[in-house]
Amino acid sequence: MSCEQREIERASQTLRAGGLVAFPTETVYGLGVDAANPDALRRLFAVKGRPPSHPVIVHLARPAELTCFARDVPPVARRLAEACWPGPLTLVLYRDPRRIAPEATGGLDTVGLRVPDHPVALALLERVERPVAAPSANRFGRVSPTTASDVRTDLGADVDVVLDGGPCRIGVESTIVDCTEPEALRVLRVGGVTVEDLTAILGYEPRIGGATRASGTLPVHYAPRARVELVEAPAARARAEELLRADGARPTVGLLGLEALPVQLPRGVIVLDPVRDVRHFARVLYSRLRAADRLRIDVLLVIPPPPHGLGLAVRDRLSRASRAGQ
Ligand code: TXA
Ligand code: MG
Repeated sequence: MSCEQREIERASQTLRAGGLVAFPTETVYGLGVDAANPDALRRLFAVKGRPPSHPVIVHLARPAELTCFARDVPPVARRLAEACWPGPLTLVLYRDPRRIAPEATGGLDTVGLRVPDHPVALALLERVERPVAAPSANRFGRVSPTTASDVRTDLGADVDVVLDGGPCRIGVESTIVDCTEPEALRVLRVGGVTVEDLTAILGYEPRIGGATRASGTLPVHYAPRARVELVEAPAARARAEELLRADGARPTVGLLGLEALPVQLPRGVIVLDPVRDVRHFARVLYSRLRAADRLRIDVLLVIPPPPHGLGLAVRDRLSRASRAGQ
């Protein structure tokens, strides 16, 4: 048995025994428990510090399992699953109450399902042979982890096993599509599958937003300790100067963004490593927000990417992070 297989075996046994296992996915690291074990689910919510009314996503090994855990699956959901799974898309469907514990879904009669596109996650799900409920492996409201060491830093001894699959390829969470009204699909959270991708699959552009209990859709979420301020590139210099001119305790100011480098900055502003393009921005977003905290930046000015493709998800996370300081 290879080292990785041994680790997966240990993680699988931990899940079966009701333990907590952090594992990599293509989006962010998840903190998994057996989705049918109410005690394990209660411990998961306690460790995350998450209100029990907030549902978690249930991860499956194979697209064909969709109909095992949801009922009344409309053809459009099957089409989305076929096109995007394994991948960064979560489908909200009516829950099969015999297979998914209500504790996993905050008591809702729906469930968010997805098949992650990461070899370690898929090997674990295959091995454990049961669905795994897994929110992002961070404390509630904070920045999602994109490396195993982020998970250890955040959760320490509260997690039983951490599987290390390297840095996450996409870096922002899955897109969530509510399919409970197939005639009126709604994108509850923009993420790794772009609205352009969904439009190409569906033949029309789905609606974005809507009332939900999705915690990743709360106005304040994904927040570092630094105050995040969104600025357009031409205004960045003036805003940095204004912050640095303040009397008394001058804040440590940082800058992040695609166009960060061409902007002329006053001395003293800490420029975080540049981002090359929107995909790269998404991949490094959370690690840059964590770096801002490590560098003790008080105010992080961020020049957001254009609002299309993955840029939409990056802007969404940034705007939620920016509201935390208000
Ligand atoms: O990429 C991802 O989705 C990652 C990885 C680990 O899969 N997971 C993740 O989980 O971001 P979490 O718990 O941090 O965010 C899941 C979101 C929450 O906003 C939750 O409220 C929403 O999914 N959600 C889950 N089930 C739902 C349901 N039945 N109806 C509406 N929203 C739901
Ligand atoms: Mg989360």
